[in-house]
Amino acid sequence: MSDTRMTSTGHAVSDAPWLDLHFWTARAEYEEALRFVGIEPAWTVLDAGCGSGGYVPLLCELVGSEGQVAALDLAPENVAHVERLVHEGHCAASLDLRVGSVLDLPFADATFDCVWCANVAQYLAETEFAHAMAEFRRVTKPGGLVAVKDTDGTLLQLLPLDPEIWARHVALRRAKAAETGILGSWCGSSLARFFRQAGLTDIVRRSWLVERWAPVPPYARQFHAMGLRYHAKLAAENGLSPSDCAALAAAAADPDRLLDDPDFCFREVFVVTMGQVPA
Ligand SMILES: C[S@@+](CC[C@H](N)C(=O)[O-])C[C@H]1O[C@@H](n2cnc3c(N)ncnc32)[C@H](O)[C@@H]1O
Repeated sequence: MSDTRMTSTGHAVSDAPWLDLHFWTARAEYEEALRFVGIEPAWTVLDAGCGSGGYVPLLCELVGSEGQVAALDLAPENVAHVERLVHEGHCAASLDLRVGSVLDLPFADATFDCVWCANVAQYLAETEFAHAMAEFRRVTKPGGLVAVKDTDGTLLQLLPLDPEIWARHVALRRAKAAETGILGSWCGSSLARFFRQAGLTDIVRRSWLVERWAPVPPYARQFHAMGLRYHAKLAAENGLSPSDCAALAAAAADPDRLLDDPDFCFREVFVVTMGQVPA
C-alpha cells in the first residue's frame, strides 16, 4: 500500500484503512462533535463525502428507525466499504448509499433536514467548495442545517517531535496550496465565509482538541506510523529544509521510538461550522 493512502479518485490520506484508524484514534471527540450538531429522531440526513463510513452508524442511531440517512462519496471503494457496515448490522436507520460528488449532488432540492460533511473541504479548491456549499443549501430543506467539519492542521502536534518542524512543514504546504487554491487540511477555522456566501444564517463555530498522551494503543500506533510516512514523503517532495526532512524521515523510519516515549502526545484540532438554510 502506498504511503500516500490514495483513493482510486486521487485523494491522499483517504483510503478506508487510514480513515478507520484516524476515526478510532479520535472517536470520542468526533462523535461528540456530530452529536453537537443537534440531529433529531426521524430526520433525513446526508453524509456528504462519507469516506469509510465512520459517522454512519451514529447518524443512523441519531435519526432512528423513523429517519433516513444518505451517504455519498466519490471513491467507489470507500462506498463499498460502507456497504459492509450495513451488512454487519451497524445501521439502525435506512441507508441510501451512492457514489457521487459533492459538486453535483444526485438529490432533489430540499431533501434533507441536515447535511454533514467531514474532512472533505480540505480537498477542494475555494471555487469548488463554494459550489459544494451551494449544493448543500439546495438539497437542504428551509430551516434545515448544514454542518461542515474540518481540521486546523496549523495546530497539529506529535510531541516530543519539535512542533516548529510541523509549523514549517504546514507553512510550506500552505504556500504550495495557495498556488492551486486548494483549501488544505488547515482550513477548518476559516470556513464561515463560505456559509455567509451561500446565504446561510445563524452560523456557529466550535472547535475540539483531540489530545492523546502515552501510552499509545495499537490502532493509534498504526495510524501515527502511517501518518509519519505520509508527512515525511510530503516534506521531501515540498522541499522542506534538509534538517527538518531528516527529523521527519527518522521518525517515519522508526516510529516506535517516538510512540514509546513516555512524553508522547498527539494533538489535533478540528472545527465544526454550522449554518441554517433560511426558512
Ligand atoms: C479525509 S476523507 C473523509 C471521510 C469521512 N467524511 C471522515 O471524516 O471520516 C475525504 C473523503 O472525501 C471524498 N471526496 C473527495 N472529493 C469528493 C467529492 N468531490 N465528492 C464526494 N466525495 C469526495 C474522498 O473520496 C474521501 O472519502
